[in-house]
Formats: sequence, structure tokens, C-alpha cells
Amino acid sequence: MKLNDYLSPEELKRLASALLVVLGFIAIAAFFGFTVVPGLRYQAHTTDSSVQAVQGETGWLDPTEYPALPREVIPPIDPKTVMTPNPELLARGKVLFDQNCATCHGAEGKGDGAAGKGLNPRPRNFAEKAGWKNGTRIEDIYKTLDEGIKGSSMVSYNYLRKKDRMALAHAVQAMGAFDHGTSDPKALANLEKLFASAGEVIPNRIPVSRAVTVLCREYAEAHPQPAPSTIR
Ligand code: HEC
Repeated sequence: MKLNDYLSPEELKRLASALLVVLGFIAIAAFFGFTVVPGLRYQAHTTDSSVQAVQGETGWLDPTEYPALPREVIPPIDPKTVMTPNPELLARGKVLFDQNCATCHGAEGKGDGAAGKGLNPRPRNFAEKAGWKNGTRIEDIYKTLDEGIKGSSMVSYNYLRKKDRMALAHAVQAMGAFDHGTSDPKALANLEKLFASAGEVIPNRIPVSRAVTVLCREYAEAHPQPAPSTIR
């Protein structure tokens, strides 16, 4: 039995050209999918060095490897060391600001970071008193860092340690020369109580690849496969 028994030569030709068109489309799609798009992603990743997203080399489906870190118990903080700014706290705040905030808020906190350009609402300009939603007092900024601002790209930073969040709050205030307002004594007392009363426990952290290996092993142990010889 041959194909020619069923199809006339013209029909065969039509079929072949249709197949060619389909193959052509697949080739073009593959070219875009595997070459052009990853190329563009790579370019975007390497040229704009001011935006440092937390991700792996190629960006996509590529889990970032974090170093393994042991569990840590951080004792309660002496409020005296964080309630008012001191040079050490401000220096720490600036380092954290450069790492976590400057992409959106700009190197000097003027709300002009590269990643903040297309955002609506725009990142706050810390040099100006106008427009703050939670407010500019130390307890207000701490609240912003604790909870984020709903409906905006200002997310919660409550995964940072309390002392680091206070360092950031002071660093933010230091970027504006205006009067940040008088703190509410009750809010300050609450913050002091929060710092002095409870320490923090940071659990063990392991690299993503190690986590995947452990998960696979535990799954295999919980769902043993019959050995090939017993299948028969
Ligand atoms: C992804 C971009 C982005 C990053 C990163 C970011 N912010 Fe924001 N932030 C915003 C936006 C947008 C707003 C304005 C929100 C609004 O108006 O609703 C904002 C507002 C604020 C405000 C003003 C809150 C108020 O009362 O109006 C503070 C303070 C602030 N951010 C601090 C920080 C700090 C500190 C960091 C780093 C730990 C940080 N932000 C990181 C986007 C960002």
C-alpha cells in the first residue's frame, strides 16, 4: 500500500507545502522562544546595572542560590540603641537603603530610582514633606516598613530585623531636611516595648538546590517504588 494509491500527485504536493508552512512557523517560534527572547532578557539583565533584582543568572525559572545559614536567635534590643539616630545606626541604614530601596526611591531618596519610573503611585520623595500617606514621624515610617502600603509597590519589609528597620527609618528621615513632626509618646512607648520584650528567631536557611534534593529524597522515601524484579 502506498500513499500514491490514496492521493493524486497534486494533492500530495498541496499536503507537502502545507507541512512546510507549519514547519516554518514552528522554526520561527522556536527561534523567538529560544534565541531572541532569552537574548533580550540577558541584555536587559546586563545593561541596566542600577536595577538589581534578586534572581539567578538568566532570570527565568532559575532559582537564586542563597548561602546556607544556621538558625539564629537575636536577643531583645535595648530601645536606647535604636530610638534616636546615632552614626552607627545611620551608616547601617544607608547600606540597607542602597541594597533594598534605592532602585525605586533613588540613591538620595528623591523618588527617582530607575525601577520607580513607571510606577503608579510614584515612590515617595524623602526630601519633600508633601504627600506622605502614613506620615513622616519615626513611628509612621516604621509602620510603613512593617506593613507596606496597600495598592502600591511599596511592600512590607518585615522580613528585615527590627533593628535594621529602625536603621532604615532613621536613614529615610535623614534624607529630608524638613521637620518630621513630633512623635506621639504613646506610639514611641509601644515601639520601645516591642523591641525590649521579644527577641527574634531566624530559622535555618539552606540553598534552593539543596532544598530540592532533600524534598525529592523525602518523597522517594515516603513513596517507595517496588524494585524492578518484583513487578513481574
Ligand atoms: C518596588 C519599588 C519600591 C521599593 C524597592 C521600595 N519602595 Fe518605598 N515606596 C514605593 C512607592 C511606590 C511608594 C509610594 C506608595 C504610595 O504612595 O502609596 C513608597 C513609599 C514609601 C514611603 C512613604 C510612606 C508614606 O507614608 O507615604 C517610605 C517611608 C518608603 N517607601 C520607604 C522605603 C524603604 C525604606 C525601602 C527599602 C527598604 C523602600 N521604600 C523600598 C516603592 C518602593
